[in-house]
Amino acid sequence: MKRVDEASRRRILQRAAAMGAVVLAAPWRAALASLSPTPAQTSGPFYPDPVPLETDGDLTMLKGATARASGQVIQVSGRLLDRDGKPVPGATIEVWQANAHGRYAHPRDVNTAPLDPNFQGYARLTTDAEGRYTFTTIKPGAYPINPANPDGVRPPHIHFDVEAKGRHLVTQMYFPGEPLNEGDVIFGALGRQKQATIAQALGESAYGWDIVLGKG
Ligand SMILES: [Fe+2]
Repeated sequence: MKRVDEASRRRILQRAAAMGAVVLAAPWRAALASLSPTPAQTSGPFYPDPVPLETDGDLTMLKGATARASGQVIQVSGRLLDRDGKPVPGATIEVWQANAHGRYAHPRDVNTAPLDPNFQGYARLTTDAEGRYTFTTIKPGAYPINPANPDGVRPPHIHFDVEAKGRHLVTQMYFPGEPLNEGDVIFGALGRQKQATIAQALGESAYGWDIVLGKG
């Protein structure tokens, strides 16, 4: 049987789900038996401390603010799936990230890039009945791992913490076509699982990223 790679399986599943299709030829059924879980990655040192009071899905506009966060406004959306490709509704997804300058609003971030008082930096989302999530944010900037050493630079990425009925995944999403991706220590450690962590560009300012939860 022709080998079916992971990206193809995901595309087929997404298409089948969108069409409500359930009838598949036998070879495809075998190929679709199980999706690979999205790989776990470190939460890093900058999970919000404290978590901001505002946690809605628009990170670019704080309540009462007169200006948006600076940077390119983007929308990120996707589905949370189990290994059979079924949506996982009612899951909690926390996201957090650096601002457009590559700075976290966190006491341990000693990067000298400016803070952005208009940027929420964090959101707590719930997947809908179809396992979908969406949020509006700004494209995060790259930042040095150690400000004293300019060689190690993390590419733009968004941290995800997913909790669904006892299943827990902490990971990171990367952006397509970023030259810094390949030189990143954390991304590089993913090996053959790298592709599963890169979002799909859905236009100039929208990205799609499906997350697959493993068991337990
Ligand atoms: Fe980070």
